[in-house]
Amino acid sequence: MQEESPIHMNKDRKLIIAGNWKMNKTVAEALDLVNGLKRELAPIKEVDLVVCPPFTALSEVSKVILDSNLRLGAQNMSEHNFGAFTGEIAAAMLKEFSVRFVILGHSERRQYQKESDELIARKALAAHAAALKPIVCIGETLAERESGRTEKVLETQVRGSLAGLSTAQMEETILAYEPVWAIGTGKTATTEQAQSAHAFIRKVLATIFNETVAKRVRIQYGGSVKAANARELMSQPDVDGALVGGASLELRSFSDIVKNSI
Ligand code: PGA
Repeated sequence: MQEESPIHMNKDRKLIIAGNWKMNKTVAEALDLVNGLKRELAPIKEVDLVVCPPFTALSEVSKVILDSNLRLGAQNMSEHNFGAFTGEIAAAMLKEFSVRFVILGHSERRQYQKESDELIARKALAAHAAALKPIVCIGETLAERESGRTEKVLETQVRGSLAGLSTAQMEETILAYEPVWAIGTGKTATTEQAQSAHAFIRKVLATIFNETVAKRVRIQYGGSVKAANARELMSQPDVDGALVGGASLELRSFSDIVKNSI
């Protein structure tokens, strides 16, 4: 049996729960949601709370959350600082809207935009250069899991996507373990699968960087997180938060995930 409450007594790392709104919400819809979240989650001090709207809503959302405990994240950025890169957004442009976090290497971008570990590592370095905290996503596909390659894949992604980061930068980086087969499918990894992957990732971090860094880095779980499974997932010793897709699009479901996590 897991400890009931407080479930994070033994964790030094502060939980971080982020809503990845993906390509959803017009400005009006985004404002509606974020005003509700600001009200509903105002008393929460125990968890770092991040909302990641589409680029088009960053400006308006940033004004609403200015005086709140909600922080702003973007869903992607360019590895370049400026120039002839049609359709791209640079770190400095995100900073104009007080963006603090940026999701990098989400599996949808790895799949549809063919983003590689090398590209993600360059983006992570560019994010740190602009004092943005990257949320670097990794995770295996179903075929990789079923053929027993989960750890190999995770190790390759961790080494590749974080290549070149200093220990100080690594400590300011968040990892999101998102098994691809659990994203948007309603299939959540079991708590044992999540814990075992997180512990493995931490072990790899200790090898690449050092034990102290590995102990400090926060590793979120992502993939069909909902109010009903949040508590059990967050109670795992190496799970330090959640990256929430579908369930972050509604006030009630996201607020309940946060409340069930503390
Ligand atoms: P999901 O998405 O919660 O809808 O599974 C998670 C993510 O893609 O970050």
